[in-house]
Amino acid sequence: MAITCVFDAYGTLFDVSAAARVASEEPGREALAAVWPQLADHWRSRQLQYTWLRTITQDHAPFWDVTRDALDWAMEKTGLAGDPELRERLLGLYWELPAYPEVPMMLARLKAAGKTCAILSNGSPDMLEGAVDSAGIGEFLDAVLSVEDVGTFKPSKAVYDMVAAQLGSARTDVLFVSANGWDIAGASGYGFRTVWVNRAGDPVDRLPHRPAHVLTDLATIPELA
Ligand code: LAC
Repeated sequence: MAITCVFDAYGTLFDVSAAARVASEEPGREALAAVWPQLADHWRSRQLQYTWLRTITQDHAPFWDVTRDALDWAMEKTGLAGDPELRERLLGLYWELPAYPEVPMMLARLKAAGKTCAILSNGSPDMLEGAVDSAGIGEFLDAVLSVEDVGTFKPSKAVYDMVAAQLGSARTDVLFVSANGWDIAGASGYGFRTVWVNRAGDPVDRLPHRPAHVLTDLATIPELA
């Protein structure tokens, strides 16, 4: 039994591809409409790569800066670099990403069962506040923990240490939920019981530590907690 349920944010609770998808449906966005899935993929994969590289080289910057840098790379890669208005629109949408549809009910069930629920994310505190507010899930969260408190990104051990430091939860009492296979590998190695949310049906990452559970969405998390 877990008494503390800790969730990754981007890609796990919040749909990161929604920014490019929503913008692509707006009038006058034909160029984006032709490439939005590639833009979303490049944006996300560069964003993550930059977090890992900045951790290795000890050049930490807030996740918001990394997110902007990754978007600039992705827009240039997909031939959209000459559209500053689109850049601003995409960045604005990142502050109001929707939660996946099952998220509010899943969190409500956990709270009704007396669990502590928290986010542990690379996100900068203000970005996380924007996403939590816009998704309307703040009432279910006991804490929103940002890596900015320790100045390094996941999967650094210092980030997972924040759960004990700020929530007082022992590793063995934590159910850690992420859609990112590399985050799950880090958290499993750290000693959390883990749930990998594998919406895309991807192969499991070939890293030293495997997920304890694999789900296709978040709906049945309360049955594992
Ligand atoms: C986060 C990134 C990894 O929310 O998605 O921490």
